[in-house]
Amino acid sequence: SLQVINGVEAMRTAIRDVQRGGETVGFVPTMGALHEGHLSLIDAAAAECDRVAASIFVNPTQFGPNEDFTKYPRPLERDLDLLRERGCEFVFVPEAAEMYPAGYGTSIDVGAVAVPWEGAARPGHFSGVATVVLKLFECVPADRAYFGRKDYQQTLVVKRMAADLNLPVDVRVCAIIRDADGLALSSRNVYLSPDERRRALSLSQSLRLAEELISGGERDALMVRERMLAHLAAAGDVNVEYVAIVRDETVDEVATISGPITIAVAAKVGTTRLIDNLRIG
Ligand code: PAJ
Repeated sequence: SLQVINGVEAMRTAIRDVQRGGETVGFVPTMGALHEGHLSLIDAAAAECDRVAASIFVNPTQFGPNEDFTKYPRPLERDLDLLRERGCEFVFVPEAAEMYPAGYGTSIDVGAVAVPWEGAARPGHFSGVATVVLKLFECVPADRAYFGRKDYQQTLVVKRMAADLNLPVDVRVCAIIRDADGLALSSRNVYLSPDERRRALSLSQSLRLAEELISGGERDALMVRERMLAHLAAAGDVNVEYVAIVRDETVDEVATISGPITIAVAAKVGTTRLIDNLRIG
């Protein structure tokens, strides 16, 4: 059965009690509106840990002033049913007022890894993410925490913070879950009209195109990027924010492709901002 816990102390106690019994806990932080991407993290946690905990908190501090915080989907009862079905036993659902009471002032800056790409496109975003993830780790002091590679740079930010601050949690990163047509699952996909959803496929298609070019021998990152941009432009009304070709596990752009890379893309389709990425090599 699933325990829904709102209070920080109650949540900590529940996790500590499990650990005192000699069992391990896996933790999956989310903002809710759960889909198979989130649920794959629940499954990974269940496979590696004795008990699974999740959190659902639409964290206001990681949204920019012109972003979708207010309209972000919040189907709480459905989310709780999905967590229950997948065998999650604890879910932390704090109130914003408990996470950020009057007088709140602390924030985490992880440095260089948060600066380019998503960090540049969304000022303050990674500070909001790192801060809330650290707080969530304190509230849900699990043995392992599970993050999706869908948010590639976020995984680097969380791993950097965990290493730099000697956090006792083992940060695990899991594969991107996609729809059959290639679109990476996202809570924001519900914003897309049928036509926008078709155009949104250009993101994953452009990544596959890059993969084909590279397996065909292309080594010039600029060339790969140009071909991706052309593909994205052909979709119409896809506003690219960046195409990043970086050394895998870093945010460092490469000029020549040799060794493992990750290509990350961010674009607006209509008013919906989407991200996707692919590891190659
Ligand atoms: P949210 O967007 O709800 O995502 C929660 C977790 O699910 C993240 O680790 C994300 O990478 C993962 N995820 C989302 N879509 C996925 C997909 N298609 N395949 C695999 N994993 C996927 O990321 C956040 O929330 C927040 O920033 C959070 C870490 C909870 C801090 O507020």
